Amino acid sequence: MQPNEKLLSTRAKGTVDQPITFLMKATLDNPENISLAAGFVDQESLPADFTRDIVADLFEDHEASRSALQYGLTSGLAPIRKWVARRIESDGFANPIDPDRVVIGSGSQQLLFITTDCLCDRGDIVIVEDPTYFVYLGVLNNIGARAMGIPTDESGMLAEPLKERLEALEKSGEIDRLKILYLQTYYQNPMGTNISWERREELWEVVNHFHKKGHDFLVMEDAAYRDLRFAGEDIPFMAKLDKSGERIAIYGTFSKAFAPGMRSGWACLPEWLAPHVLRQKGNHDFGSSNLTQTIVQHALEKGHYQQQVENLQHVYRAKAEGMLKGIKEFFPSDVKVNNPQGGLYVWCELPADCPTGHDSALFKAALRNKVLYVPSVYCYCQEEGIEKPDSSMRLTYAMMPPDIVHEGLRRLGKAIEESRESISSAG
Ligand SMILES: Cc1ncc(COP(=O)(O)O)c(C=O)c1O
Repeated sequence: MQPNEKLLSTRAKGTVDQPITFLMKATLDNPENISLAAGFVDQESLPADFTRDIVADLFEDHEASRSALQYGLTSGLAPIRKWVARRIESDGFANPIDPDRVVIGSGSQQLLFITTDCLCDRGDIVIVEDPTYFVYLGVLNNIGARAMGIPTDESGMLAEPLKERLEALEKSGEIDRLKILYLQTYYQNPMGTNISWERREELWEVVNHFHKKGHDFLVMEDAAYRDLRFAGEDIPFMAKLDKSGERIAIYGTFSKAFAPGMRSGWACLPEWLAPHVLRQKGNHDFGSSNLTQTIVQHALEKGHYQQQVENLQHVYRAKAEGMLKGIKEFFPSDVKVNNPQGGLYVWCELPADCPTGHDSALFKAALRNKVLYVPSVYCYCQEEGIEKPDSSMRLTYAMMPPDIVHEGLRRLGKAIEESRESISSAG
């Protein structure tokens, strides 16, 4: 510890590096590494031309350009908030969505953090899918919330184990410390799978069962990848099941289907929660970048966002197919992969005797072969006394050009072979 580090708060001292930091650094320090790990979007299709035109038009307009360069409201630009409200309603919600429930954030990440911070004291409980978005696990760690993971299959979190976990919390007298059920409903990170409509209904039934007994908690529906659908049917937001509008919050973003560099996302919050999130956001930044929001507003109004969503369907469909083909070509046939219908990720399950973690033979072989993946251990919330699977990996086809992804998969296939040889000769 550096001498002045004793000045740090308990919370800062307890905050650890996100696991992905190592993977990012390994790529930046050694450009020969091919990263199938970093969750960046496709570089080539980023909407530079649309953005240039929007900015040029904006700065032709004396009034509009000056108001974009001024501070804005903490809640964000009204036209974007209205757009989000109408977008949600278009799923056939029973009641209109009041745009005052919508907050614009510096990425949806900021709003995930602030909501969690508003609800959780140290030691409170948040239930997540196992595996889940590891950055959110970092948020929980930072806030001091206890993460509990529920097994998840290709249709989403399993309802029965959720119910059993809630019953166990009820029995142990801890259920009122449960504040949040965090679900990624579309092409989740890391597995690339949806929560099917039937599963959303089953999960909602469990939530309702406990609501009727007086045990309430917020369902945080993270829909970050919804607009990256390239196959299969579109599914309405799970929040449609919450007729009261009081128990499910939705989180969306303009990062994935437009530009992450904008750092612009949104949350549609229950009426009772919105003022608290706004107050806390006031302490963070009293409003996200007005200039960025103005660009997003114009992208929505001119139809550029919608066009980009359409373009990306072709881009990611082709990239996902390329990755699946490469996996078939280079990976042993007993590696199980899902077939994503949207999003940025492919989840590979290796046989149980082939661990993928940081200290594993495979991870070391991958580094030797100059290729990186996200080990599954980062994505499972670690709970004392509960063993979590350790032999999967998250791969992404999103950022790299297809030929580099293909080469990365060749290297990874070789690494799998080498590590299996080393394990069997050691055994
Ligand atoms: C599941 C999920 N939710 C939320 C986010 C946050 O995205 P942003 O802050 O760019 O809106 C990400 C980013 O990777 C994500 O994977």
